[in-house]
Parts: sequence; structure tokens; C-alpha cells
Amino acid sequence: MDDDALTIIDERTESSYDVPLLDGGALRAMDLRKIKTRSEDFGLMSYDPAFMNTASCRSAITFIDGDKGILRYRGYPIEELAEKCGFLEVAYLILFGELPTAQELDAWVRDITRHTMLHETTKKFLEGFSLQAHPMGMFISTVAALSTIYPDARNVLNPESRQLQVRRLIGKVPTIAAYTYRHSLGYPYVYPDNELSYSANFMNMLWRMVEPRYQANPVIARALDVLFILHADHEQNCSTNTMRAVGSSQADPFVCTAAAAAALSGPLHGGANEQVLKMLDEIGSKDRVPAYVDKVKAGHGKLMGFGHRVYKNYDPRARIIKQTADSVFKITGGNPKLEIALELERVALEDEYFVSRKLYPNVDFYSGIIYQAMGIPTEMFTVMFAIPRTVGWLAQWQEMIEDPEQKIARPRQIYVGHGKREFVSIEKRSSHAVAA
Ligand code: SDX
Repeated sequence: MDDDALTIIDERTESSYDVPLLDGGALRAMDLRKIKTRSEDFGLMSYDPAFMNTASCRSAITFIDGDKGILRYRGYPIEELAEKCGFLEVAYLILFGELPTAQELDAWVRDITRHTMLHETTKKFLEGFSLQAHPMGMFISTVAALSTIYPDARNVLNPESRQLQVRRLIGKVPTIAAYTYRHSLGYPYVYPDNELSYSANFMNMLWRMVEPRYQANPVIARALDVLFILHADHEQNCSTNTMRAVGSSQADPFVCTAAAAAALSGPLHGGANEQVLKMLDEIGSKDRVPAYVDKVKAGHGKLMGFGHRVYKNYDPRARIIKQTADSVFKITGGNPKLEIALELERVALEDEYFVSRKLYPNVDFYSGIIYQAMGIPTEMFTVMFAIPRTVGWLAQWQEMIEDPEQKIARPRQIYVGHGKREFVSIEKRSSHAVAA
């Protein structure tokens, strides 16, 4: 018997089919199409709402073992990368597959740094938003607007063009993010300072006021670098799936990144970090944690920042973020929300409801507490996620474009609607209740 194949017996026809297994653990859905009862049949499909058990691609970028709580970028454990690398160094690894030499890193940093400025028309575009506009809405729209400034980005099949857009996006997303923050406060924009590191320059564009030169606190800058490393990629999550799907139509990388950021903004995905702080505010104090947990167990809402489609163990990123919090709080002073979060984690991890569902803190549970301690407003938290995840989206987009197996994403469906119906003229129609 072939270890790398399944024999499927169709009881309907008593026919048997040998279906090869890929990489030891997957079968090609298209192989199901040969299973028919009549030769003219369409053949079988797989049905998998939300892609709970469907591989959409082969990827060499990020490996996750959800049961063991393992996360590696290009084979390197996230714990080592977070401890020993800078964010742009990890960005290089994720995009190009290898850790850069010192010379390669210098050239890479220079490349990114020269793309931090925004076209002046982009600033005017941003000024059109109301002061109350949510930063994520401004970020998504402005990233998409970049496609109107760089029409050459449509040459997605040209490797040199792709490399130029990758550098433009990684260089500009912190600038756009900072501009959305400054706009919401009515403050003047701060132009990039290309003498500063990626994270320190982001702090400069967020917080510089009238001083001639911004002095970034090195502990905060390092904490931001670590947070950016932890958020850079996470294999086929909802927003990355969006990046790949939109990119599969050969749309330009700016509108693809905007689409991915739109997916990230949902409260079940990257928007959770903002919801965690709102949840901690609602709980209000440590002694009210048990009552809140009971409410969730009764089916009223979710513990935001808990649970994960893949991790059925502690999210390794949450553990590192918790450690990073200590270094930040030594500078900023503690965050009272941390006490509530730690109590919520303690209670939940001892409660059968969460234990039986393998619900652990995920990357979003502690990140907002650090951002808040840094002085970043809650509405900016998902933008903070989108900045580093732009690297992962672009790496996955490139891998998709270069994958000979990939083509435009177009799933099938199981049709459950009406069969053919005779047309009814308007005077003969009866009213019917429509869903509110
Ligand atoms: C991110 O995919 C990624 O990699 C994403 C991400 C990345 O880096 O890109 O890791 C980033 O998005 C992290 C997740 C952030 N979202 C949240 O913290 C929102 C709260 N979490 C949940 O909405 C939920 O856990 C998801 C969306 C993260 C995962 O949902 P699944 O895999 O679809 O699981 P499910 O909804 O089917 O839940 C299984 C059970 C259900 O209970 P029963 O119907 O079996 O009784 O667990 C329950 C759920 O009700 N459950 C929760 C819960 N999460 C799941 N109950 C309470 N609180 C929660 N947070």
C-alpha cells in the first residue's frame, strides 16, 4: 500500500479511487472531482466554511505549531528573533528568507529610510478626514490612495517593480500611521528624521513637538521594535488571506495592503487589541473579574484577547509581550489595567469553560496595555498592528505572485437557493417579510 496515497471507495458506485497525499498530510481538492456517479457529473467538492481545514497555498515564511505554542519566521524561533534582532533585520528575513549580513542590513535600512516621506498630496488627502475619524479608517484609505501616486505599482509581474513597492510601503506605513495620530489631535505633521531608527523615527513622528530634534527613549524604542517583530507575520490569518486573494487578481500592492488592513481592523482579528482595553475599562477593577467571566461563560460576549484558531496553547507572542511590559513600565510607570488583565488571565486559565475550549491569551491581550502606557491612544492600537504586519503581507503577496501553482482566487459554493422560477410581473407580486 502506498503510504502517500488514500484509497477512496465510493459506496454509491462501489468504485475506488487512489488519491495521492501531498507533503504527507493533504490531498488536492481537485482530485475529488474525479469521484462521480455518472461521467457527466461535476464531481465532488470539499466544503469548508472559514477554511477551518483547508490549505490555500504552500508557504515557506512562517511556521506555527498551535498545540505546542511554537512560532518561527523562516525557521528561526520568535523568542530568539525578538531577543537578538531589530525589526528591519527581521523584516529582511521574512521577505528574503535569510538573516542579512551587516552590509546587507545597512543597505536594506538605507533603502527603507529613503522611502519614509509621503507625497505632499497625501497630506492634503489626510487633511480631508474629520478630526474624529478613526485612525484605522484613515490608514486604510491613505494606503489605498498611494496607488494613485505610484501607477507603476501595477506592474506586479515585474520583480524590480515589486521590490520598489515593498520598500515604499514598509518605509511609508509608519509615516501614514503617525500622520493619522497627529491629525486626530490637530497637531502639525512631523516629517521623518532619517537619522533615526525605524522605531525611533516613528516615535519622532508621533510625539515631537517644538524641540529641534526628537530624543527617543531607547527602552521605548527597543520595546516598539520587539512589538513590531512579534506582529510581523502569522501565516495564513484572515488579513493575509485577504492580501493573497486580492493580490491573485494582480491588483497593485497598495490596494492589496489596504484590503488586508481592512480585514485586520475587525474586532475578531487585529481590532481585538483595542477591544481588550475597552473590556478592561468595563471590568474596572480586579474584584469585578469573576462577575465578568461569568457573563462571558453565560454567552454574553467574548474575552477579547483570548482564543485563537491555531494556538490551542499559550500564544508565544503574548508571553514575550508580557516580559516586554516590565521594561516599558519601568520608564512609563505601571498601568493599572495590567493588574486587571493578570487577574483575568489567572481566573480564566483555572476555569473549565476556557480550559476545555483551549482558550489562552493571544497576541492582542497584553499589547494594548503597553501601547497605552507609552501614551498611544486606544484607537491607534490596530494601526500599531498594521505597521509591522505590512511586512508579512508583502512577503506572502510576493510568494503568491511567484508561486506557479497560484492563479486568481475563486472559490466554489454549494447552491441552496431557489430552482428556476417563472417571472412575476409587479402587479401580481405579494409582499413578503425581508430580514430586518
Ligand atoms: C489575531 O489567525 C491569526 O493568526 C490571527 C492573529 C495574527 O497574528 O494574525 O494571531 C491575530 O487575530 C488574534 C485573535 C484576536 N481576536 C480576539 O482576541 C477576539 C476574541 N477571540 C475569539 O473571537 C476567537 O477566539 C477567535 C476569533 C480568535 C478564534 O475563533 P475560532 O477559531 O473561530 O473559534 P470559535 O469562535 O469557533 O470558538 C470555539 C469556542 C466557541 O464556544 P462553543 O460554541 O464551542 O461553546 O470557543 C469559544 C466560542 O464561543 N470562544 C470564546 C472565545 N474565543 C472562542 N469564548 C469566550 N471568549 C473568547 N475569546
